[in-house]
Amino acid sequence: MRILVTGGAGFIGSHVVDAYVAAGHEVAVLDNFSTGNEANLNSAAEVHRVDLRDQAAVEKVVASFRPEIVNHHAAQSEVPKSVADPGLDAHINIVGGLNLLKASVDHKVKKVIFISTGGALYGEPDVVPADEDHPVRPLSPYGTSKFSFEQYLGTFKRTFGLEFTVLRYANIYGPRQDFYAEEGRVVAIFASRMLERKPVTIDGDGEQSRDMLHVGDAATANLAALERGEGEIFHVSTGVPVSVNDLFRKLAILTDYKIAPNHGPRRKGDVYRIALNNTRARRDLGWEPRVSLEEGLSLTVDYFREQVLQAPV
Ligand SMILES: NC(=O)c1ccc[n+]([C@@H]2O[C@H](COP(=O)([O-])OP(=O)(O)OC[C@H]3O[C@@H](n4cnc5c(N)ncnc54)[C@H](O)[C@@H]3O)[C@@H](O)[C@H]2O)c1
Repeated sequence: MRILVTGGAGFIGSHVVDAYVAAGHEVAVLDNFSTGNEANLNSAAEVHRVDLRDQAAVEKVVASFRPEIVNHHAAQSEVPKSVADPGLDAHINIVGGLNLLKASVDHKVKKVIFISTGGALYGEPDVVPADEDHPVRPLSPYGTSKFSFEQYLGTFKRTFGLEFTVLRYANIYGPRQDFYAEEGRVVAIFASRMLERKPVTIDGDGEQSRDMLHVGDAATANLAALERGEGEIFHVSTGVPVSVNDLFRKLAILTDYKIAPNHGPRRKGDVYRIALNNTRARRDLGWEPRVSLEEGLSLTVDYFREQVLQAPV
């Protein structure tokens, strides 16, 4: 198949590109490299350095590559940035995404696979693990822009016949995640700081929990969505809550880190306990997570160990 992956130079998108290329597909990447990285690019994929907000440029890429599938990972993906500048978040995540949908209709794309969020949609969930029908009540503009775009997909299917599948990710971790980022990337931040023997700060009491999925499992869900899941929304998740204290302990063992953590204030607006039920993805996508937390953390530490050793001092 011919597949256009937006955000294919980013953390998760680049793993998806690798999986598609390995499965024999013809892949092109559309990315503006705002947070993406040249080093993540797969050499078998053609690359278009384009901003989603540039309607004419997006149209040109779709017109020339003529994808059958558009896999849409590019986004303003940071919650604090969306709080600081909700207009910018909406411009990229909604208006930019609509440029892609319009071009997809005009050039007869069969299906759009859209990457949404599970973690930022439900607020503090009523049930853990929450399923996809849990009431939506985002606490951030980022959650709202992702949910709005899901709604547009429904409209484009009903009105123009453009097929879609939505993947609502849990917290994804693994190699290539930006480990100097301040926000939200707990495994990357803990692992890199532990390897550098720097102090680690846990927000609040550390008993807050998240659903942690290895990026390799996110990639296989994108393979499954090529053939299945038309018109559906799926959690791509483990279904199991893991506390930040647990992550700290497991990573400390893997990195031989002996320093006790500091505790900072609890982060305002943070969900306390969440996990996402993945029964629907198991049933309708035929997908399941394969990488255990222990194995995934160990693979991630190996990667960051190489990065830390290579980093200029
Ligand atoms: N990391 C997670 O745990 C997580 C959880 C839920 C959902 N997601 C979603 O997964 C997707 C990928 O996230 P990631 O963690 O890999 O982040 P990332 O920042 O590494 O990837 C985003 C990519 O999009 C590109 N991009 C950003 N704005 C663009 C624009 N205007 N035009 C073209 N390209 C643009 C960036 O350069 C980058 O390569 C995002 O849609 C994000 O919302 C991620």
